[in-house]
Amino acid sequence: MSKLVVITGITGVQGSSVADTFLQSPGYTLRGVTRNPESDAAKAWAAKGVEIVKGDLDDVKSLERAFQGASVIFGVTDFWTIWKDPRNSELKAPDQELVAYCYEVELRHGKNIADAAASTAATLERYIFSSMADATKSSGGKYTKLYHMDSKAHAATYAQSLPALKGKFSQVQAPVYFQVGTEWGLPITPQKQADGTYRMKGVGPGHKPIPFGNVRTDLGPCVKVLAEQAPPNTNLFAVGDYLSWTDYLRIFCETQGVKYGGYDGMSYDEVNALLPGGLGHEFGLNVLFAFDFGYEGNEPGIVGPGDLGIRMTSFREYCEKNRFSAALGE
Ligand SMILES: NC(=O)c1ccc[n+]([C@@H]2O[C@H](COP(=O)([O-])OP(=O)(O)OC[C@H]3O[C@@H](n4cnc5c(N)ncnc54)[C@H](OP(=O)(O)O)[C@@H]3O)[C@@H](O)[C@H]2O)c1
Repeated sequence: MSKLVVITGITGVQGSSVADTFLQSPGYTLRGVTRNPESDAAKAWAAKGVEIVKGDLDDVKSLERAFQGASVIFGVTDFWTIWKDPRNSELKAPDQELVAYCYEVELRHGKNIADAAASTAATLERYIFSSMADATKSSGGKYTKLYHMDSKAHAATYAQSLPALKGKFSQVQAPVYFQVGTEWGLPITPQKQADGTYRMKGVGPGHKPIPFGNVRTDLGPCVKVLAEQAPPNTNLFAVGDYLSWTDYLRIFCETQGVKYGGYDGMSYDEVNALLPGGLGHEFGLNVLFAFDFGYEGNEPGIVGPGDLGIRMTSFREYCEKNRFSAALGE
């Protein structure tokens, strides 16, 4: 009998990676959860044979229905959907920073997924949650406002506390997506200069390594190993490649056939001004925390893909397979 894998965020980057991986593996049937089964992305999964069900991370009952009979559940919360939703600017307390309110909502979503996973414990073998480091704890109180990280870490702690999930829970941590400077049109995208070279802005010094990865292709295989091979309570940091900002730009230039122009490091205040409203705050502190304490935090027992025999995509491989026409202004 095939095993049921239920995937939240199936219309997004992480959920798509998980769905692709399990679709290619015999012995599984897939169910994807979305707020809108009529979206093009949801219909595309349905056309590939995935059962699509309506569910909202804010509605635990909808998740309980969606998770019924699951052997494997992949849970992901999205801080940025919450941040972008104009209703949340209205719902936050008047003197509360929007990102601080997003922490509360994202933690609630994470707890809802865990509670709903617990409700199907009779069939559940593994609940895998996409978490991040507890920045407040790992930094010994230096970084207490990395809301999009702490919310996920605290949701993971909550899942670990549920008796019904004992021996069934693991976490996967996504690194910085390769796409941040190549495909998303952010101000850190390499810019053509008057002399024809490409320069790039980033956060902090240009020589320190930051963990990146091709989350769209590589998160799924990591989740599959967590479901099939790794023992419960594994905390897998799904890093693909450690790159400094200058490595990033140099490889971008070499593979796209353009000239390297150099790197401009921004301070926290500069990135915050460039990406206002909390985006620069979260991104900037995320990179600075990674430099200071290690992106994945310092909880004991965190493993990397190599420990579990998983091959990850390097940044050069990713760049060689893609032409970044928008970034290159083509
Ligand atoms: N970018 C990075 O470098 C990076 C690194 C590490 C971690 N992360 C984390 O990755 C997370 C985002 O994951 P992603 O890249 O896969 O996101 P994504 O591609 O933007 O997709 C978001 C997904 O979340 C679903 N979703 C959002 N709100 C929902 C709700 N209320 N109920 C049900 N589903 C909901 C959406 O589904 P529907 O719209 O179909 O309902 C969609 O599938 C963020 O929390 C971010 O902090 C990002």
